[in-house]
Amino acid sequence: MSTPTTSRLWQPLGLGAVKLENRLVLSPMTRRRAAANGTPTPLMAEYYAQRAGFGLVVTEGVYPSREGRGYPNQPGLVDDEQEHGWAAVTAAVHAHGTPIFAQLMHAGRVTNPEVTGTGTVLAPSAIPFEDHHGHHSAQGTTAATSQDIAQLVQAHVEAARRARRAGFDGIELHAANGYLLQQFLAPASNHRTDGYGGTPHRRARFVVEVAEAVADAIGADRVGIRVSPGANVQGALELDEQDVSATYAALFDGLRQCSLAYVSMIHAEAGSALVQDLRRISGSPMIVNTGFSAVTDRKTAADLVDTGQADAVAVGRAAIANPDLPRRWQADRPEASPDQATFYTGGATGYTDYPIDDAPQESLAAGRPHR
Ligand SMILES: Cc1cc2nc3c(=O)[nH]c(=O)nc-3n(C[C@H](O)[C@H](O)[C@H](O)COP(=O)(O)O)c2cc1C
Repeated sequence: MSTPTTSRLWQPLGLGAVKLENRLVLSPMTRRRAAANGTPTPLMAEYYAQRAGFGLVVTEGVYPSREGRGYPNQPGLVDDEQEHGWAAVTAAVHAHGTPIFAQLMHAGRVTNPEVTGTGTVLAPSAIPFEDHHGHHSAQGTTAATSQDIAQLVQAHVEAARRARRAGFDGIELHAANGYLLQQFLAPASNHRTDGYGGTPHRRARFVVEVAEAVADAIGADRVGIRVSPGANVQGALELDEQDVSATYAALFDGLRQCSLAYVSMIHAEAGSALVQDLRRISGSPMIVNTGFSAVTDRKTAADLVDTGQADAVAVGRAAIANPDLPRRWQADRPEASPDQATFYTGGATGYTDYPIDDAPQESLAAGRPHR
């Protein structure tokens, strides 16, 4: 096994229209630092620019319509002010020569009417999602009509166009972790009896339609998609293995002719038949992230690309605490640990104040933000 410093992680990679200098991708992470009206702030530009050593920067989940907003202080891409806010972010990242994609995340039923501000919560079926904290309890959850479905597709298209106008190199569709697109894929959240529910093929249809429409609008080589087959998070339960294989095979079969820029796969077993079969069916390069149960570390990342199981690796939590993570991993430098308490609290603390490697070694070793 090669060591991290000689790993293929440090070789360039083409993903559709963009070229990555290395194969580490900043994993999309909601940090809730936007203004109350969803406009990205200068602090966000600083945060993303600090992480421009990644081969590709993918933003936190961004709502493509007001109904799709999942969290207070989550940023959106639905009006001119938000578009201008993002333009400052993309310029700051591009100043380092690094490509940046916006992750479009419609929360579907994983929200509540107060957060969306529209009085409604849209989902494939009228099945409310209640997490164990009660935060998302959405009594108003309604099943999308066929007119709603057409509007949802259009909202993704409009947001993708805004993303391009804001300077993004492309967009990533969030079809993972229990949000709207996965709610259509998962039998637990999709009880529809029309052309968008029932069989694996019909549950995959909405996601295929969204991806095709967005690809038509901005080019398939600027569109990626993130999936988490069988992850069973946030109520999008996919408990039957055969059904998982059939549903995601139908999805990637449907997307094959689009030739998307990449598939971003969340799965603990990247070498499994499921993951590698889906990779082959999709025909697109694959970014892997092994999920929440183990924090991605440098050995795991190097092994994933050096064994050929993945073309690139998405890194989440380690990148929160180490803005210059790729350089640290390449130079075999020590790392700081992220402070979970400040993941979503707003402001610079635990966001832009983690040290870079030329800070004094004491602060690196302390494993906490350098203030
Ligand atoms: C604070 C936080 C916010 C996250 N928000 C998102 C998100 O908006 N979209 C997404 O696809 N994944 C999100 N994730 C999942 C990460 O992208 C990643 O898959 C997960 O953290 C596991 O990878 P890691 O072990 O490298 O952290 C989030 C994770 C964390 C820790």
